[in-house]
Amino acid sequence: MMQGVSHICAPYCYRCELGLEYPSCDIACARQLEKEIENQGPETVAAFIGEPVMGAGGCIPPVPEYWPMIRSICDKYGVLLIADEVINGFGRTGKWFACEHWDLEPDIMTMAKNISGCYVPLGATIVKGELAEKLPLFMHVFTFSGHAVACAASLAAIGVMEKENMVEHAAEVGQYMLEGLKTLDKHPIVGEVRGLGMIMAVELVKDKKTKEVFTAREAIPDMVAKRMLDYGVFVRSGGGNGSVVEIAPVYTFTKKDADTVVEALDKSLTDAEKTM
Ligand SMILES: Cc1ncc(COP(=O)(O)O)c(C=O)c1O
Repeated sequence: MMQGVSHICAPYCYRCELGLEYPSCDIACARQLEKEIENQGPETVAAFIGEPVMGAGGCIPPVPEYWPMIRSICDKYGVLLIADEVINGFGRTGKWFACEHWDLEPDIMTMAKNISGCYVPLGATIVKGELAEKLPLFMHVFTFSGHAVACAASLAAIGVMEKENMVEHAAEVGQYMLEGLKTLDKHPIVGEVRGLGMIMAVELVKDKKTKEVFTAREAIPDMVAKRMLDYGVFVRSGGGNGSVVEIAPVYTFTKKDADTVVEALDKSLTDAEKTM
């Protein structure tokens, strides 16, 4: 919404805004960045900001070519690349940072949430050395910035994650759970199951062929989420189009817990389908 910001379409293959199909699309969504930089005038573009795996947008892991292409377009035009790892960072996608999945080196990285295991509010920004050196010193005040208690809690949480190999665990259980969720494709209202590590989504549709989404009035994704709560599992319905059941378990999740979720979702989908 900020003035001077323009957008390109998301690498959302299931609902490609450009109406193309992977891989024949030649990753047109990434190439759109180059067109937009040219449109805007390269000398006016400071940075490109993106979330490596889109979280609140409905858990959208991009195709493998996407981020390397974005990086090389940014390099070509001298545009900074900012990776928003607020949701992705500190293990969520099964690596410490989602950027690692594509050996992506952003110039600036934002982070929060799991930096402290979510126990204490803390947010942080990392800036590449050569950029930091050129930044003028200026006063940018928040009452609680650099708070010692939050930093100590965060160091403790990171220590536990390292000691207990939680990120590797998240990768393993996430992959196992994703395979379980994929079996739910048998349901007529399951459009797509996707995920990476411990961030997963089941996108619901009225019709598998047309991919028509449920209306707010029909509220089937909400109903599925509510039914899951009855079965003892808390998930969120949402995503960009409101038709996505988003699942992001804690890193201590076991394969048995994963089975419980898949079973609860299976039953909740059946219950919802009966009402249609
Ligand atoms: C991807 C992403 N970026 C940024 C933010 C905002 O972070 P904060 O609330 O720490 O300012 C959020 C908040 O949910 C988020 O999900």
